[in-house]
Amino acid sequence: MDLFERLSPPPRILMGPGPITVYPRVLQAMGNQLIGQYDPVMTGYMNQTMALYREIFKTNNDATVLVDGTARAGIEAVLVSLIEPGDKVLVPVFGRFGHLLAEISERAGADVVTFEVEWGTVVTDAMLEKQIIRHKPKLLALVQGDTSTTMLQPLEGAGELCKKHGVLFYSDATASIVGNSFETDKWQLDAVSVGLQKCLGGPSGSAPVTLSEQAVERIRQRKHVEAGIRTDSHQAGQRSRIRSNYFDLGMILDYWGEERLNHHTEATSMLFAARECAQLNLQEGLDNVIDRHKRAGDALAAGLRALGLSLFGDLSHKMNNVVGVVIPSYVDGEAVRQAMLTQFNIEIGTSFGPLHGKIWRIGTMGYNARLDTVLLTLVALEALLVQSGGSIKQGAAYQAAVERYDVGE
Ligand SMILES: Cc1ncc(COP(=O)(O)O)c(C=O)c1O
Repeated sequence: MDLFERLSPPPRILMGPGPITVYPRVLQAMGNQLIGQYDPVMTGYMNQTMALYREIFKTNNDATVLVDGTARAGIEAVLVSLIEPGDKVLVPVFGRFGHLLAEISERAGADVVTFEVEWGTVVTDAMLEKQIIRHKPKLLALVQGDTSTTMLQPLEGAGELCKKHGVLFYSDATASIVGNSFETDKWQLDAVSVGLQKCLGGPSGSAPVTLSEQAVERIRQRKHVEAGIRTDSHQAGQRSRIRSNYFDLGMILDYWGEERLNHHTEATSMLFAARECAQLNLQEGLDNVIDRHKRAGDALAAGLRALGLSLFGDLSHKMNNVVGVVIPSYVDGEAVRQAMLTQFNIEIGTSFGPLHGKIWRIGTMGYNARLDTVLLTLVALEALLVQSGGSIKQGAAYQAAVERYDVGE
């Protein structure tokens, strides 16, 4: 092992379920020199970032900030800040990430109720209402796009149900934001968290979060400013202290707010990345970005079908940006994935839990939601399937993808 080998990652094309190849402008933004955390230029960037993510989330929520860490840092910050020990939390599970929300809620001390539907399907409003009436939860935690199954959970009706029954509504939209519609205010969400490494087109390591006034109010009731920076003007909240210091959204909001109360040291290079991702997507226009994801995703799906492959799950609820492909019985799925990587520099994904070894997951996200990356992936896969003895009409996948993509124009 040469410890001083020069860093030289191969030029991979990341076509898995995320992380994905980052927009070059985002990498350039991260290469900028640091500035101090209270430099007015830096606090100006922080304010801009808040405003940019209000647009990304489609919200007027003042409380729109970055949590430093990967997407699960955002999830954990929301859940540990909203949940008090003993609170009932309802978590519908339609893939791996529902299990994650349940596990983090449990660790935050919640009395968690889950209900699981078959992977490859989504939850209906009727199922949700039945469970809400039965369990009377304080919080509903619902994934929007679960990359483990590629399904996109409809959220339109859930917010109304939550309001009707006095339930706080949180969604993890890490995998789906800007690749599919998302409407924080219109869908009456109280909390949303995401990550950069999917359709937003950045690296993992920053988790944008937005909170409704009601959610902020709940967090304020648990206010606790740590010793050493606490002054006489800081009143502790009436309710229990948030169990994590790092993920205490009350303190994080005070750091991002007018008081600029010191908490963590902001991960400046990640803030540069998050800010650039938001700018890029908003400059392209959210509707255009979603449309580009849909066209690339549809073209990929058409090409995969032309290879004689079956697609996984209820396709009427598939995310635009990732597809599950049933691994045909005549190939070794892992060997094909390895060959895609080593021979073509293209990464596609494997799967988890009950789907492990059964499906590949191929993503068309962010910078890679393009026709050329779709065609490269299809041509490479076709070559490997033919080599494995598949009876495939050569060139048909290319043709189908190009035709499908052009229809979108
Ligand atoms: C829906 C969803 N939530 C959460 C995560 C976890 O993200 P991270 O690995 O950045 O913590 C992922 C990652 O794939 C995801 O797809």
